[in-house]
Amino acid sequence: METKLLFPTPVWVEDDCGVDLERIQKWVKIVKETDPNGRVASNDGGWQSQDFIPPYIKQDHALTELYEKILEISYKAADEWGFQHYILEVSNLWMNVNTRGNYNHVHTHAGSVLSGVFYAKVPTCCSGDLKFLRDFKDQNLKEGWGCDPNFDRWEHLNETEHYHSPKENQLVVFPSWLPHSVDRSSSEDERISLSFNLHVFSKIYQDNEVYPSKRSANTNVPLKVI
Ligand SMILES: [Fe+2]
Repeated sequence: METKLLFPTPVWVEDDCGVDLERIQKWVKIVKETDPNGRVASNDGGWQSQDFIPPYIKQDHALTELYEKILEISYKAADEWGFQHYILEVSNLWMNVNTRGNYNHVHTHAGSVLSGVFYAKVPTCCSGDLKFLRDFKDQNLKEGWGCDPNFDRWEHLNETEHYHSPKENQLVVFPSWLPHSVDRSSSEDERISLSFNLHVFSKIYQDNEVYPSKRSANTNVPLKVI
């Protein structure tokens, strides 16, 4: 019997990105000291920075190396996904510092195509796994008829959630609509990560100059730039 896997969900993981971690850690510390309140998004506790956007990221030497790595891996991911004639751009990037008791609620990154996270500092133990969840409408597989004793294994065919243990200098890229959360940290040490979104643009449309004819008239919303 053949088993067909329909609509598998890709999550791309790049270990040992070769990024200067000490430099990024120092930069995150400076940003955190400059803006100690940060913002609250999916995080419960911890600290999250405001958004950084490409013109600034490209000028900032502490983030430029990471920015290039994000694009390199994201282009590989999108190529594997079958994209062609396209341009990727990081739309925003932000920093996260979690320590004991902090976690992130389940969320998606609406409006972009790829999202991801880079781990700049990971304590040796218990800083909270990144948890991916099967779409809510598909939770029926488990919830509909049984519980743990009703299954003899949990694997890609039947798992309703998947845990990813972060490593230092590791980049994880995933579809922006994939629900995810971060488990509560029970470590006294800080975990530092940088999250980001990417938008995709069609080079076909751009070459035909379709984009310039369709622009939003709403230019009154200021961009937050640190
Ligand atoms: Fe997220």
